[in-house]
Amino acid sequence: MKLLRLLTAFLAATAFFPVNAADNIFDIDVKKKGAPIQSTMYGIFFEDINFAADGGLYAELVKNRSFEFPNPLQGWKVFGNVRVMNDGPFERNPHYVRLSDPGHSHKHTGLDNEGFFGIGIKRGVDYHFSVWARADRPVTIRIELVNTASMGENHFLCQQRLTVNSTEWKKYQVTLRPNATLDKSALRIFMETRNGASVDLEHISLFPSDTWKGREGGLRKDLAEALADLSPGVFRFPGGCIVEGTDLETRYNWKNSIGPVENRPLNENRWEYTFPHRFYPDYFQSYGLGFFEFFQLSEDIGAEPLPIVSCGLACQFQNNDISAHVPVDQLDPYIQDALDLIEFANGPTDSEWGKIRADMGHPEPFNLKYIGIGNEQWDTLYPERLEPFIKAIRKAYPDIQIIGSSGPNSEGEQFDYLWKEMKRLKVDLVDEHFYRPYNWFLSQGTRYDSYDRKGPIVFAGEYACHASGRKWNHYYAAILEAAFMTNLERNADIVHMATYAPLFAHVEGWQWRPDLIWFDNLNSFRTVSWHVQQLYGQYKGENVLALTMDGAPIAGKQDQNGLFASAVCEGDLIYIKVINTSEQAQQLTLKFNGLKNRESIKAVKRIDLQSDKLYEDNIEDPTNIIPVEKPFSGQGKEVETTVAPQSFSILVLTME
Ligand code: AHR
Repeated sequence: MKLLRLLTAFLAATAFFPVNAADNIFDIDVKKKGAPIQSTMYGIFFEDINFAADGGLYAELVKNRSFEFPNPLQGWKVFGNVRVMNDGPFERNPHYVRLSDPGHSHKHTGLDNEGFFGIGIKRGVDYHFSVWARADRPVTIRIELVNTASMGENHFLCQQRLTVNSTEWKKYQVTLRPNATLDKSALRIFMETRNGASVDLEHISLFPSDTWKGREGGLRKDLAEALADLSPGVFRFPGGCIVEGTDLETRYNWKNSIGPVENRPLNENRWEYTFPHRFYPDYFQSYGLGFFEFFQLSEDIGAEPLPIVSCGLACQFQNNDISAHVPVDQLDPYIQDALDLIEFANGPTDSEWGKIRADMGHPEPFNLKYIGIGNEQWDTLYPERLEPFIKAIRKAYPDIQIIGSSGPNSEGEQFDYLWKEMKRLKVDLVDEHFYRPYNWFLSQGTRYDSYDRKGPIVFAGEYACHASGRKWNHYYAAILEAAFMTNLERNADIVHMATYAPLFAHVEGWQWRPDLIWFDNLNSFRTVSWHVQQLYGQYKGENVLALTMDGAPIAGKQDQNGLFASAVCEGDLIYIKVINTSEQAQQLTLKFNGLKNRESIKAVKRIDLQSDKLYEDNIEDPTNIIPVEKPFSGQGKEVETTVAPQSFSILVLTME
């Protein structure tokens, strides 16, 4: 079967398409290694948008577990005698519920939680239920995972009892193992003891046992694996606009995201209100996935952590009034937050913030090397705020590299102004963002060739191809992203980081698309863009090799038959990335220059990403469009091959 698939794909790449007879001669200079490719080159960008954190990567299955939503019972259905109280054991999350005797033997007291678009559960997997509770006398509660849509005799798929027998607040736990797989179950809690009894419940939580690395209260395994499988070199968090907040009140406050989860205060998610046409009034941040977890995940997946902090500007898209922002002379607490963050990541265990990291289970430093100040900011408002941050960070931590922003536009007046300012302020890297249409991606093949080599360095911090009228994930957009990335690679001396955005989207809870990884309550779907990112990460190489056609970089120029290409080497291996954006297959001659007489090049294999389903993706079927590894033969100082129409190929060769 596999053989048949390989053969079909091979023939598809070579025989069935009309091949452009024009000889595309690629000159590859193997004599001289070019700029090193930084380990940080291809990375990931995480933001809690599209239910990426709560309801996504953070594996908590209970929504509003601490009853802190503005409506404390949002996400819950209560029955019988339930009251919301607000003098609980966790200072920053004071609400809890009191369950009391319903007052009639044929009535019941309890509550159901709806989860995030339901609670996804798998047959045979253990689920850890926990609750903080107290009662004046022993009270038994029954915990069930239920299918309320069932036509069966019973709603429950599993049940357990626990007895609350402490008058002081205490954490209780039981394990549930459902007898069926279901994407939309609910959690149900019945109070069984009556006789005038009552019981207080707080921080009601349910996690699968099969989390990423088996961590208690950890991350959803399939989603974390989808990140690890990208071999990312850098991990930017906690996002873009979420750093800024709709107002400063709701900016991402990293200090609220650390320490015991029960006492991390709830924040309004700024994406709750951003798009009224896709409105989610129940979108909040529990901060269960907080800065400690972000640093830990960076370490797990071998990526450099790259936190972004607020520069004292609330989202400028939503705030025209200057009073929305922190005045320049009142920035000290914000600057202190940035300095404290560096201490939290790297400080010794006897420092104030280093101790908190150690108490959370990580005495070793996280080795933070980068910090971003501000997200998509613009105008004079930004540089005048950035400057005091830079002064303070350089003074306290001269080795930390600082990232400034070039705003939300990929070019134009503000972009030029901000780049000039970033140079003046001597930031180390400049964050560029581009969500742009097909023609932009097709026209930017030489974008970085003319950048000032004196710096600052480029961080392409948010990008994705957004086709006008086709604003969803699709194969052709991913091919154009691959084409554009040849430009990042060719300019690896000046481009050190690039991260596609956004990263995650719940199929029932998205505000923004396209996104790199989609998921529902049980499954995840790696898009074609994901495969493009993975291929670049896997075949990153060590050094750039000069690659030209008729003396010019291969960047989709008029006489280049829609071809984009770049080449790198890793030891004796050579990886040539070729994107054919044209509708015709293209014949290529790979000419290797600079070889000694006895030296030659041997083809090893090729990886092809090709489809004629230009507007499809993998969101329903993750195997719909995926890269295929194929045999590749040829030897000598020249190797001939063909690339399919609208395709991305990586040609792997070795020097002998
Ligand atoms: O990636 C989604 C949003 O796009 C980011 O939050 C913001 O930086 C950009 O506008």
